Amino acid sequence: MSAAKAEKVPPAPPSGGRVDFTSRYRPQTIEELVGAKLRQEVLNLLKFGIGKVLLSGPYGYGKSSVARLLAKSLVCLSPRPGPCGACEACASFEVQWDKGGGWIKTREGIPRRFLTLDMTEKGKDDVQVLRGEIAPSFGASPPIFDTAVIVLDEIHRLARPAQELLLKPLESLDCRPVIACIADANMERLDEALRQRFTGFRISRPSDAEALAWAKGIAKREGIKIESAGALDRFVKARERTPRRLLSGLQEALIRGSLDEGG
Ligand SMILES: Nc1ncnc2c1ncn2[C@@H]1O[C@H](COP(=O)(O)OP(=O)(O)O)[C@@H](O)[C@H]1O
Ligand SMILES: [Mg+2]
Ligand SMILES: [Zn+2]
Repeated sequence: MSAAKAEKVPPAPPSGGRVDFTSRYRPQTIEELVGAKLRQEVLNLLKFGIGKVLLSGPYGYGKSSVARLLAKSLVCLSPRPGPCGACEACASFEVQWDKGGGWIKTREGIPRRFLTLDMTEKGKDDVQVLRGEIAPSFGASPPIFDTAVIVLDEIHRLARPAQELLLKPLESLDCRPVIACIADANMERLDEALRQRFTGFRISRPSDAEALAWAKGIAKREGIKIESAGALDRFVKARERTPRRLLSGLQEALIRGSLDEGG
């Protein structure tokens, strides 16, 4: 299958002792996402402009990974759609992402700020976080920060008062691009009015053939022995073509010495 052959396995960076497949195989560019449909939809989103987008889907489908790629593409210096993964801004983005954002120099030489708030790390002072950091970046005129993009991962973890605090700034016309993520299972914890402020974007799974080719590529790169012809097929099915589950299963197989059963 040609689509399956196109599944690109990201180059594994040298292991620093600790093996963590989810970070080792985190896609750095759109080409490295598994699934042609997902790649095309992400490109469309970039083509038509990111306004306020809510990425949803089951756990492990790649919501946070796609959010990261979209945010990176908004600061990347290359004129191509999607992050090039090679320029100064892309490199700086990767370093600053885990620190909750930072400043990046754009093509025009202007420093722009990006903000990532992973709600998994926020506690009860999230209202203060929003007041202090987010609200001024939205809609303030002139903008207090020249904010390139705001990412709100696991947005359902925001307490209700904080969700309500977001309603007004999200409606303002010169609102910066906002990328939020939520797992399907948590959807009812999101304020309905807030949900409606966003354009929905559902993350799709790779096809059987794509998931198989991708898992096979990683197994080969990692030197994981595959017990029988049908083993990989059963493994991919048992893990429901979910990228994160496939990666953790492959990592377990590496430790066990081979990929045998459904995983
Ligand atoms: N479409 C995808 N293509 C390639 N790798 C993926 C994809 N989706 C997820 N992954 C891998 O699985 C890991 C977990 O995905 P993540 O984006 O955290 O999922 P979610 O936020 O939906 O739970 C990522 O670090 C990445 O290695
Ligand atoms: Mg996530
Ligand atoms: Zn770049």
